Formats: sequence, C-alpha cells, structure tokens
Amino acid sequence: MERFIFDCDPGHDDAVALAMAKGLSKYFKLEAVIATYGNQTRDKTLANALNLAQALELDVPVYAGSEMPLIRKRVVAANIHGENGLAGPVFPPCKLKCAGNGIRYALDTVINNPGEITFVSVGPFTDLAVCLKADERFASSLKRIIVMGGSTVGGNVTNTAEFNVYADPEAAEIVFSSGVEIVQFGLDVTLQVMLNEDILNRVRASKETNYKKIFLASMEYYVKSCREFIHDFPAMHDPCTIAYLADPSAFEFKKVFVSVDCKSNLNYGATVDIREAEDKNVYKGIKADTEKFWNLFFEALERLP
Ligand code: RIB
Ligand code: CA
Repeated sequence: MERFIFDCDPGHDDAVALAMAKGLSKYFKLEAVIATYGNQTRDKTLANALNLAQALELDVPVYAGSEMPLIRKRVVAANIHGENGLAGPVFPPCKLKCAGNGIRYALDTVINNPGEITFVSVGPFTDLAVCLKADERFASSLKRIIVMGGSTVGGNVTNTAEFNVYADPEAAEIVFSSGVEIVQFGLDVTLQVMLNEDILNRVRASKETNYKKIFLASMEYYVKSCREFIHDFPAMHDPCTIAYLADPSAFEFKKVFVSVDCKSNLNYGATVDIREAEDKNVYKGIKADTEKFWNLFFEALERLP
C-alpha cells in the first residue's frame, strides 16, 4: 500500500483532492498533509488545510510548509480561490493545531523510511525543492514524486506557464532535474477532467453529508471564478493525483525529461519536454479516463462524513 505525504495549497481543487484522499483511503496510506503558500499565503492555506482535516476527519497531522518561493517574488491566486484561499464554504471553529515544520517532518519521515514514502505536490514545488537541497539522502530515500504542475498545452497564468510551476520555477527545475522518478499531472491531462453540470446535479442528489455542503459551496464559488478568469468549468487538477494513486489505470503516460524556463521574461515558468534526453525520469500524463475518475470521486463521496 503506497504511503505518501500530501503537499498542497488549499485551494478549491486541493480540497477535493483531500476529500478523495479520505474517501479512497483503502487504496493507499496518507501519512500527513503539508500546507504551502500558493493559491494563497501560507497562513491562509494552513488554516484551510486544518479546517478540511477537521471536516473530513482526516486523522493525519497537518504541517506548515514554505511561506515564500526560492527566488522570485511570491504570487498567489486570489482571483481564482478568493481572499481566504477557499472562498465559499464556512467552517466551524477549528480545534486542530499545526503539527509543526513540514520540511523537518518530510526530511525525517522520508530518510527514516528509505524507499517507502512518495511525495505528492499539488502546489508550488518549493517544499520538495528545499528538502532535495537540504539533505542529499532525501532524493535517494524517496520512493517517487507525484506532481500536479507544468503544461505543454499552454499556460493558465501566462500563455505558456501553469500556476504551480510559475509560482516557483527554480523549485520546479530542481525537482524535475533531481533524477527521482516523477509522475507529472500537467494541464495536458488535468484539463481533460472538467467539472460539469451533470456531476454537480449528481452531487446535489446524493445523500446529505457535511462534505456535500462544503463541496457544493466551494464549487459554486470556483465555477464563477474560473468562468471569469480562465475557462468555463473548473478542472480537477489536484484530484488527478489521488485518483491515480487509487487506480493508476485511469491515466496514460509517456516518458520524457522536463525542463523549466527559469531565464526568459515572457516564458518564465514554462515547462518543456526534452524528448531525446537520455535520462527520462518523468512519466507525463497524456490521457485521462474521465469515467474512471468520476467513479472514484463518487466512490469517495459515499464514504465522507
Ligand atoms: O494550475 C493548477 C494548479 O494551481 C492547482 O494545483 C491549483 O490548486 C493551483 O494551485
Ligand atoms: Ca493546488
């Protein structure tokens, strides 16, 4: 059973991914959540992660990740995710507390469990890059890395850059060039998994649960902001990583080497596949079986509080 650390920046789609991690827990073992800056500042994403952990009864520790990117000026996505990073749902007072420094936790856990722990990153790759640089045993101890980030089908922040990579291109370059096996969910594949009215109606008709209220309230906001700023319905970017862990056959991949543009102005944060590279270490998602994805989503929904 694959054991993983989930590094996220909740974030509307991060929240769906956390819900699926809870509902599909029979397929894998979520060890801990780390909240990084990204969609909003770290204090806001950490508060959202703690609220979601309480609402979902996640029963795993929630740690604090990085507050800033490695080099560039921090950018957030308040236009899409709102001032608090997860606009829409209202949570009761949170009784959970941050478990401590996420970088320290990830270094200790991965190095003390060689070959056992997968690092899943669905926000900027800063935490992962810091761990890779902090201790050379981290890379060799990791089982593998799964990321949501990058794109060769155009960007969602600039014409060429996807947000998680754009938020910290230097961190992404460190990760992609680490030599560790990486499973990449870029926009190439995540934009194939779009929410739609039928799915929303199916959720509306499902049994009353606390999470159903959270999902519908968050998607009501997310649909409006995506419609205004990006494309019609929101894509289930981050949840693709969890669906993959539950059922790898839901996606198809090709092996590439990924490089990040950290130099240019206009294409800063763009990712490029180097197809003729000798040391291809990235399994790049190219196709999603959306029926399998949504079946997994509703399987999870059935099991949520
Ligand atoms: O580009 C999509 C990614 O940026 C997702 O992880 C979303 O949560 C935002 O962080
Ligand atoms: Ca995210």
